[in-house]
Amino acid sequence: MQILFVGDVVGDLGMKMVNQYLPLLKKDLKPQLTIVNGENSTKVGRGINERLFKQIMKDGADVVTLGNHAWNNPDIFNFIDDTKKLIRPLNYPGKQVPGEGFVELNINGVKAAVINLQGRIFMEETDDPFAKIDECLEQLKKDKVTIIFVDMHAETTSEKKAMAMYLDGRVSAVVGTHTHVQTNDGHVLRKGTAFLTDAGMTGPDEGVIGMQYEPVIHKFLTSRPSRFEVEENGDAILSGCLIDVDKKTGLAKKIKTIMISKDHPYHN
Ligand code: FE2
Repeated sequence: MQILFVGDVVGDLGMKMVNQYLPLLKKDLKPQLTIVNGENSTKVGRGINERLFKQIMKDGADVVTLGNHAWNNPDIFNFIDDTKKLIRPLNYPGKQVPGEGFVELNINGVKAAVINLQGRIFMEETDDPFAKIDECLEQLKKDKVTIIFVDMHAETTSEKKAMAMYLDGRVSAVVGTHTHVQTNDGHVLRKGTAFLTDAGMTGPDEGVIGMQYEPVIHKFLTSRPSRFEVEENGDAILSGCLIDVDKKTGLAKKIKTIMISKDHPYHN
């Protein structure tokens, strides 16, 4: 069973890449489960709204995950409780937090789940993602879910790898998001969990992780506040990965990265 994951969709160029290439990827790779991280998909690169969520689903996603920008566009509060297919980090604190941190799916009789987590190093304060996912896995065990995909939205490579090692053999895959640069370390861990430190982003290639580069350089040069805006021109990329999972055991057989860019043109 193939799981297709598309990394952080950034701004209009990111949405354009999803619209152009996700249907082609689905046609060629025939994944049974497709997940897209949409937390940067608004024009300003922060948050998501209902129109964009529906567009990503129409383009082929089964589930959309989020991250630290989950609440940046207030439109989300109008619809997140009505859709199970849009999930925010599981370890957000408080009992009143809107939405859910995981979703269970039935894929042709096979039970699957997608979980969204957020790291705690160099990020806003949240509950412990390790303790939270343990509780969640207990629930999934009771529900006899075999295929489990985890989007670990975190800043540091160490926290993502530690989570993957912690979950090795208990979930199908741990894929990192948030840092927007695809890493080259995709592999299956010893007990059968596929891991990739970061899937990379889907959006403008010419800025600095999606933002226009001039204000970013200005901030580095002067240490003064700078207003970052999404790069809307130039080339765009789509980054992600494909995971081959044994549907009986839920363990991974293979993981490979996906990159579509000027230097890596799409061909099937
Ligand atoms: Fe993020």
